[in-house]
Amino acid sequence: MFKKETYIERRRSLLAKLSDGIVLLPGNGESPANYPSNPFRFRQDSTFLYFFGLNHPDYVGLLDVDSGEEMLYGDDYTIDDIIWMGPQPSLAEKAQRVGVAHTRPLAQLAKRIEAAVAKGRRIHFLPPYRGETMLMLSRLLGIVPDRLPAYVSVELAKAVVALREIKDADEIAEIEKACEIGSKMHTTAMRMCRPGVVEQEIAGAIESVALQYGAGVSFHSIVSQNGETLHNHYHGNTLLGGKLMLVDAGAETTMNYCSDFTRTIPVSGRFTSKQKDIYDIVLAANARTFELAAPDEFYYRMHNEASLVIAEGLRSLGLMRGDMREAVAVGAQALFMPHGLGHQMGLDVHDMENIGEKYVGYDEETLRSSTPGLSSLRMGKRLREGLVITVEPGIYFIPALIDKWEREGLGGGFIDFAKVREYADFGGIRIEDDMLVTSYGNRLLGNRRPPVTTAEIEAFMGER
Ligand code: GLY
Ligand code: MN
Ligand code: MN
Repeated sequence: MFKKETYIERRRSLLAKLSDGIVLLPGNGESPANYPSNPFRFRQDSTFLYFFGLNHPDYVGLLDVDSGEEMLYGDDYTIDDIIWMGPQPSLAEKAQRVGVAHTRPLAQLAKRIEAAVAKGRRIHFLPPYRGETMLMLSRLLGIVPDRLPAYVSVELAKAVVALREIKDADEIAEIEKACEIGSKMHTTAMRMCRPGVVEQEIAGAIESVALQYGAGVSFHSIVSQNGETLHNHYHGNTLLGGKLMLVDAGAETTMNYCSDFTRTIPVSGRFTSKQKDIYDIVLAANARTFELAAPDEFYYRMHNEASLVIAEGLRSLGLMRGDMREAVAVGAQALFMPHGLGHQMGLDVHDMENIGEKYVGYDEETLRSSTPGLSSLRMGKRLREGLVITVEPGIYFIPALIDKWEREGLGGGFIDFAKVREYADFGGIRIEDDMLVTSYGNRLLGNRRPPVTTAEIEAFMGER
């Protein structure tokens, strides 16, 4: 937990951004995996964590914008709870640690909301993403779950995003810790990767690193020699010499700040020259983003500049042809990189994705484009000091997509399909790092960047 004043200040800033009404910030409950007393790892709601800091199920925060009152609803442990789960400080004690003076049993929340609704007061809430929270809001507000999206508070969504997206020094220190763990996960994968090892063995080992040093992984690890499938969660293949293994994995600290790195390494420990050629293009696109990103630049422009590096690189290898600025303008390179350059990161690996990309990655000034590639970009808006963003260009050879583009005559004449066919079994390469936007431009997050050049990776894998 951060110091008490941090949470007091965050709530004060939130209230200052809202005009009137009541803000309801539900924490998460336990979520059963296969029966109620066998839940998934508990994960607190990130916005609740941001404003109230308490990592415990079944609490609800309430802020009265008009009076400034702050309240935490929740129940203390009964003797039965203590028998099974051990003693806990009372909610009142915990609330004091985050500067909240008032607490009430959860059962009293309904009356409070009922009274506010009867007076015609606005109840601000964010888009719920768990069934249990939807049902709770539905009951409290008398709105059927399907209709809840129509009542989400845009004012609250914008206010929360404006606060959460600018990371302070304490948050950056936590993200750096997450990067440190993430780096260990990737070097562990590099140590273990060799022909004959099953992907699952590596996935298990790197996830144990995440658990050993933090709260676990920040998302399901991708460990695959079929890196052309962007979010490949199948780990059953035996690694083959000559293939590339793509690892996209990150950790959460015990305070739930995240990291997210991708490295693509040769199973045999050495890249072929064909692999090196493609790898160096992706790495140049990653580096180009770090050259350009700075306050007031738009991230969609970074996406386009990284795409241009990819397109130019592919043209130099004969896979694309023509004027590459024109190719990028119509999204022809999206055959090879059908995803966006990055996303915000913080308490969520895709930070605040539950609140709505319209506010997190875009705004009134920047709308999502429909051009291939750019249309998949989660974060397009203007950069500001304090934002944390991933930089994750890639080149993939996706047989089904290549077939479709060729069959349908897509790519605007910029693709040499005959040449592309020579790469049909190449797989995919992604290189992902985490960036902080600073007053002077940006910097890489994490003191120990996992080996990233082909020389660094080969040297690391050679010495293990
Ligand atoms: N971890 C998935 C992603 O890179 O967005
Ligand atoms: Mn990733
Ligand atoms: Mn990412």
